[in-house]
Amino acid sequence: MVAYAIDLRSDTKSLPTHAMKQAMMEAELGDDMTGEDPTVNRLEAHVAKMFGKEAAVLACSGTQSNQMGVWAHTQRGDEILLEEKSHIGSWEAGAPAILSGVTTRFIAGDQGKLDIPHLAGMLRADDQHLTPSRLLCIENTTNAGGGGCYTLEHLHRVCQWAREQGLKVHMDGARFFHAVIAQDYDPAEACRYIDTISLCFSKGLGCPLGSILVGSHADIQKARRARKIFGGALRQSGMFAAAAQYALDHHVERLQQDHRHARLFAEEIASIPGIVVDPEKVETNLVFFELERDRGYASQLSARLKELGIGIGAMGAQRLRACFYIGITAADVHQAARLVAEAMQDNLTELPVAANGPYARG
Ligand SMILES: Cc1ncc(COP(=O)(O)O)c(C=O)c1O
Repeated sequence: MVAYAIDLRSDTKSLPTHAMKQAMMEAELGDDMTGEDPTVNRLEAHVAKMFGKEAAVLACSGTQSNQMGVWAHTQRGDEILLEEKSHIGSWEAGAPAILSGVTTRFIAGDQGKLDIPHLAGMLRADDQHLTPSRLLCIENTTNAGGGGCYTLEHLHRVCQWAREQGLKVHMDGARFFHAVIAQDYDPAEACRYIDTISLCFSKGLGCPLGSILVGSHADIQKARRARKIFGGALRQSGMFAAAAQYALDHHVERLQQDHRHARLFAEEIASIPGIVVDPEKVETNLVFFELERDRGYASQLSARLKELGIGIGAMGAQRLRACFYIGITAADVHQAARLVAEAMQDNLTELPVAANGPYARG
């Protein structure tokens, strides 16, 4: 096991703070599977209200709550529409097909975001020959798309359009609070035309686990059934709800610090020969940058950085991602950028390429 001095591979690497652990220890508990955990019930009601929706259901992970959303809106043989780099489509192990029996239609968008011109003409009718298009999934902020946000106007435009076409809309909001901070929108207003929203408490907000799905009573009831089928209905889960509530109360506003750190890191590495990054494109806590091809592959730079104690993952042949989160300080940002510069002094092409090939992601 490698202990990274500074681990920027993912914002899931954050550890719960002492105060969060304290809140977990003191949580009032009951059996959540039968709706008797008061801390879970309070969290679900609080988040539903914050998003202007009727109900919410706690889930174990972002993957689980996304898949509960897919299940709630579809039937076997339906099709869901996704941006081609989306987490639901590419990083959830084929779950839409396995769990809900739906096909996935990948659509090339713009940096992970979809708009009406990308979608128009992509819908399939309810015809016996076809897989009817039922659900549009959008991701906000985008992950592999580059860490960007939908503006309020863009979000409303595309979601309203989808509804007019008879589609349901699910948002993978694993990092939606990052978008709230970056765009300064109200969660309920932003999600006005969205049927279900999946939020993560373990990405950037510092919780050890936990996600939540928000939507109408009817959709959340279906999602609860899915959660049971997917093995995710827990008992005294109030401990995790307490961590989530603590994060909502104390760790949302501070996300702007992670956004500043991300921008600072991008600015510092932008001057390193062989590194290509546009700091202006860094909107939230994720920094995607490229290694020029003649300097080696991303996995080789990632391997050299690992030797130097810095965790930055390869996300493609030339692409890398650095994530900023609670616990990463400004000093860490400067140190990580200095060590990227040091790694770039070396001949990276002599290092081993990732075992699963230079084009492997993650
Ligand atoms: C955009 C997005 N959606 C969903 C997930 C899945 O979350 P989890 O790892 O909790 O299953 C991730 C994980 O990184 C993500 O980046």
